[in-house]
Amino acid sequence: MCGIIGIVSKDTHSIKHDTLPLLKRLEYRGYDSAGVATLAGDIQKQTGHIGPFIDSVTDHRTQASIAHTRWATHGGVTALNAHPHADGTGQFMIVHNGILENADALRASLPNESLVSETDSEVVAAFFHDRIGVQGLTTDAAIHEFIGAAEGTYAILLMQRDDPTVYAIKHNSPLALTRASSMHGATILASDITAFGHLSDEAQFFEDQTYCRITPDSVAFFNAAGDPIEIEPKSFEWKDDASLDEYPHFMIKEIMEQPTTSRRLLESLKTMQAAELDTFATTLKKARRVVFLSCGTSYHASLIGAFLLNQLNYEAHTVIASEFENFILVDPSTFVIAISQSGETMDVILPLKRIENQAMKIGSIVNVPYSTIQRHSDTTLELLAGQEICVASTKAYTNQVIMLIKLAERLGYDVDCDKIPGRIEECLASIDGIARELAVELKHTREMYVLGRGAAYPMAREIALKLKEIDYIHAEGMMAGELKHGTLALIEDGTPVICLIHDDNPAMRSSTREVEARGARSIVVSNTGSGEVNVPAGCEAEFAIYSCLFGHLLSYYIGVERNLPIDKPRNLAKSVTVG
Ligand code: AGP
Repeated sequence: MCGIIGIVSKDTHSIKHDTLPLLKRLEYRGYDSAGVATLAGDIQKQTGHIGPFIDSVTDHRTQASIAHTRWATHGGVTALNAHPHADGTGQFMIVHNGILENADALRASLPNESLVSETDSEVVAAFFHDRIGVQGLTTDAAIHEFIGAAEGTYAILLMQRDDPTVYAIKHNSPLALTRASSMHGATILASDITAFGHLSDEAQFFEDQTYCRITPDSVAFFNAAGDPIEIEPKSFEWKDDASLDEYPHFMIKEIMEQPTTSRRLLESLKTMQAAELDTFATTLKKARRVVFLSCGTSYHASLIGAFLLNQLNYEAHTVIASEFENFILVDPSTFVIAISQSGETMDVILPLKRIENQAMKIGSIVNVPYSTIQRHSDTTLELLAGQEICVASTKAYTNQVIMLIKLAERLGYDVDCDKIPGRIEECLASIDGIARELAVELKHTREMYVLGRGAAYPMAREIALKLKEIDYIHAEGMMAGELKHGTLALIEDGTPVICLIHDDNPAMRSSTREVEARGARSIVVSNTGSGEVNVPAGCEAEFAIYSCLFGHLLSYYIGVERNLPIDKPRNLAKSVTVG
């Protein structure tokens, strides 16, 4: 998964001051390497983050530019594998987000093209050189052939040297287009609206197997056969949160925003989103069962959803999206609910597309409006957490859980949601000190365990995930009841074990004693004042939120102690757009 940007302007624009700052806004999609190409055929690219690349780039003015930030899939993190790629003559330049599954076959069909990188993407530049430069096809005919031949996922920007026209081709990877009045009406192409949400409030979103020809004076969309098509512009509201304010990292800024973001969500569920919440509740009542579809942190939120609905006597299941079809049955009486911060996670999109006509209805709960997952659902609820920049999800995740609690409340679950934002605020203030102290104690830890039962079990997994992704600690979050079936063998003198205990649950107390008896350094999180970490009172589902705030803070402060790249952990990207 990667981020791509293209600009086509009437006057010239600067790659350093116009193109690359937009690319920087997509850095959350990958940060292994970055690069940019101009109309004159100048390609600059290097490994590492975009900030240093912008500092070192030689500025050029150009009427068309394409740029790319990479999360490596095919080939190592090297400057040679960085995009843009050009064919051997340097005439055809491309950037690509996605994976070409038949890249080897395409490569074999181009015996006269010399390819130098290990990527699947370079073959695209070679393909267009062969079809247009050698065989003499028109660009439209070559694109038509490419769409017919290519298998996999792609959002591609194609530019020929000295021709101020960019072709944008899309299948299965997201691509949006807008015009920016602040840039003299320049056309901007980007993987998503995050890139240009500060410049525009309207965009056209590409459909699969379509392409667009953009010149300084025109924009024209076509289907795969080359027939002109209309794509309606959509207006959007996008709160731009790209500044750190007084915080050293986006992670802590986003953690501390949660009282505000949770209030905003709850308010909207009574006003703007009240009708959609009703639709979800009504559909749920009609469905025979509910199935959640999600990955990573969003999967942990979905476990809370399944827990709550089962408490209310609705049949509800969740399975990690990449294994969805192997373990879950979808039929015309199933309400499928996809949960995703980005709305672009390929592991969710692929099964979603396959079951589109099998389910009774598809609902989505997403943070990014007009994202692919939202556009593939019949009904949608938005998280309204604002832009989340840190790779680790915190505020969007909390709003996912609140959304599911609110839905459960609507179906009869006994909870007063209006108290949640105030309690989040109280919780953050009261546990900050202990989280900092524990981070100092645990900064050299290599392994940790987190135990929970009921609604706290998903939180145990979520806290462990944060310790892994932010702190590189091997952490296991598990059902406390499973401990004695194997994992207890790993507990030694001093092994840190976080025990999430709601309302002094006796079974959780026993599990805690079991690890303590083997020498564990237990850290009890309690809502009754009986723990080392004490969070506000509240029902089991609320405890899931408050105990997880402790996990957010602890993993953040350990990252600080270890001097790690908290907002951009190694090997990861915010938006996982490959399956
Ligand atoms: C969150 O901290 C993780 N970085 C990751 O697990 C994430 O939740 C997962 O990739 C799913 O993303 P989504 O919510 O955008 O679909």
